[in-house]
This record gives sequence, C-alpha cells and structure tokens, in this order.
Amino acid sequence: MDISRINFISNSNISKKTVLLRVDLNLPFEKDKVTDNLRIDRILETINLLQERKCKVIIISHLGRPLGKIDKNFSLLRTLKPLSDKLRNQNIKFSNDCIGQEAINTVKELNFGEICLFENLRFYKEEEMNDITFAKKLSKLGDIFVNEAFSCCHRKHSSIVSIPKFLPSFAGVGLQKEITKISEVLETPKRPLMVIIGGSKISTKINTLLNIVKKADTIAIGGAMANTFLAAQNFEIGNSLSEKNMIKNALEIIKIAKKNKCELILPSDVITANRLEHGSKTKMFDVKEVPNDEMIFDIGEKSISYLISKIKISKSLLWNGPLGAFEFEPFDFSTTKISQEVAKLTSQNKILSVAGGGDTVAALTKAKVKNEFSYLSTAGGAFLEWLDGKELPGILALRKA
Ligand code: 3PG
Repeated sequence: MDISRINFISNSNISKKTVLLRVDLNLPFEKDKVTDNLRIDRILETINLLQERKCKVIIISHLGRPLGKIDKNFSLLRTLKPLSDKLRNQNIKFSNDCIGQEAINTVKELNFGEICLFENLRFYKEEEMNDITFAKKLSKLGDIFVNEAFSCCHRKHSSIVSIPKFLPSFAGVGLQKEITKISEVLETPKRPLMVIIGGSKISTKINTLLNIVKKADTIAIGGAMANTFLAAQNFEIGNSLSEKNMIKNALEIIKIAKKNKCELILPSDVITANRLEHGSKTKMFDVKEVPNDEMIFDIGEKSISYLISKIKISKSLLWNGPLGAFEFEPFDFSTTKISQEVAKLTSQNKILSVAGGGDTVAALTKAKVKNEFSYLSTAGGAFLEWLDGKELPGILALRKA
C-alpha cells in the first residue's frame, strides 16, 4: 500500500503538546509475567522523543478481547510495571478509565514530560464499534494523536481510524520504520525477491499467496500448508495435516506462479514421525516415498540446502510462518537453520530481510535471531493483510488530505 502523504512525528516540530499515543500493549502473559517485551521496546523511541519535546504523553491501548466489559484479567495495569521498567523506572500515572472524569483529572495533573496510561479501550464496546462519539471524547483529552500501533492498523476501531478525524495525526517512529521496511521489501524490492510462507493452513494465507505470487521471484512454501500443495500434486502425505478443500486453490496458485515466472518451491524431502511431541523419533523421506502411516512435521535436508542456495542469490527476503512444527524439537530444525543463515547474510549486508507474524516472532526468538533480521514485525493480522495487498484503515487515516 502507498505510504506517501503520511505525517511522521519524527519530521514534525511539535513541542509542549498533550499527545494521545495509541500503542499495542496486547502483550503475551504467562501468569503475571510478560513473556515477550518486543512491543514495548518498539514504542520507546517515540515516548523518548515526546518526552524530550516536553510533551504530556497519554498512552492508550487495548489488551485482549474483553468484549466491551470491564474485566480485571484484561486490565492494562498488568502492563504498567513492564512499561515503567523499560522507561528507566519512571513513574507512570494510571487512570482506571480512558474517558470520563478520572481520565480528565489524570491529564490535568500531568506535568509536561510526564506519562500516563489509560485503562483498556476495549472495556467500552464503542471502541470496536468505531463509535464516533467515543473517539471524540478521547480526542478531547489531547492536542495531537500519534499512532504507534501498526499491529492494530487493520482494525476499524475508534482509537485507530476515528481519532484522526478530530486531531492532527502522526505515525510514530516505530510505525514509520515498520511500514517503510515492509513497503521496501514488498513494493520496491531489490531483486531477486524471495518469500518464505509457512504455517499450517492455506485457507488463512490464500490472499497473501495470490498477491505475493505476482510480486516475488521465488516463493518457498513450508509448514503443514506445503502438505496440501504436495497432495494437490498427487504425492502421498500419509496422515499429515492438510486441507483437502484447498487443493483446487493450491493448483490455482501453482498455475499463476508459472504464468508470472515465479518459482514456487515445495519441499523435495521431509521429516516425519508418528506423533507430534518433543523428541519424537524421526525419519527422513523423499517426497515421492512418504509412507501412508507417517506424518510430515518439517522439511528435509535436501530442501533446506536448496532454500539456502536460493536465499544466497536473493537480495530481498520476506518471511511469514515457520517451515516446520517448530514448537516441538527437533521439528524446529529447518526454521532455525534457515533463519540463522538469513541472519548471517543480513549482517553481511547481502540481503534485506523482513519477517513478521506471531508464530514467526516466536520461531525467530527460539532460533535466537529475532534482532538479526533487517526488520521483524510483531504484527499478526495487520502484517498478513498488508501482504494480502489490502489497504490498512489505520494507515489510510494518517494520510494528509
Ligand atoms: C494483535 O495482537 O495482533 C493486535 O493487538 C490486534 O489484536 P486483535 O486481533 O484482538 O484486534
């Protein structure tokens, strides 16, 4: 999508403003501990910039899907300490409500350069309904709006698309980096452009495949999704996960790829087991020889070597979805090995590498390369919708008239 005509906070000269900063604090928790802080790390630069410019910073976000009701499990209070820790233990004031008197008072008591956090926007059903009055109430609390939540930009929610109707609006530093990198790799890539698409279902990535097949020079398909492609070509896939109802779509993608001279790479060999569990006893088969009682859980050695050889001659790489059932060792092998190779080539400036999506972040974190790619997007749905070729409403809302 077109990212021109967007106001970036980094290019503005605002100072001493009250800023409504929409972030994505929809963080992963295990009991009361945040298990991945990447989304916090990504908003720090904007917060620091706003504080340097002596702005009052009002952080607004959602957490989970509380369906318009107050629910302590989804309270943003849970994110207050991790956020404060990352901000050199600064005191962050908290308002139990994102509109109303408590919110107004919290902002009034804020000094320039200080930060407050408002309670979960989704405690109001109006947020997800994109209610204009709700957006107006929120916008009255600030002078300007900064969106630093790329991962929510596919949502037509009040705090994403309607606040910009009332306030001068900007993209934050993190959002700017994110859309610039994704746009660079997808819209104006140095070629050859290779795309790796993994994950379990074609059905959730069919639009992505249909869009990307027209843009990429090479597409490598992995994960259980590859099983459906193999089945479409009459290979035996045993008891492997696949989507029989997507076979027609797989054949269609293969046809479009040929027409567009895009090389579509499917595994030529696979790792199988009888069960999906840690430490399963594994076997490796050529795809022509998979027994009918086995299940495919990863790509094999020949496939890995071929993918690495293709990556080595590519100038740009886009990656979404793991190649195997990476949560279970040793089925993380191909994803780890290939991602480490991408990391190495990236550090040598030989490739621009962009990856994104929830599982992809988890897989690259497991492979210890999450900071080694040119860019790793923490967005799930928004990242995929961009790859689908859709216009994201949250980005459109930031465009100058
Ligand atoms: C995400 O985690 O992808 C974003 O916070 C969006 O969450 P949602 O899918 O509940 O809208």
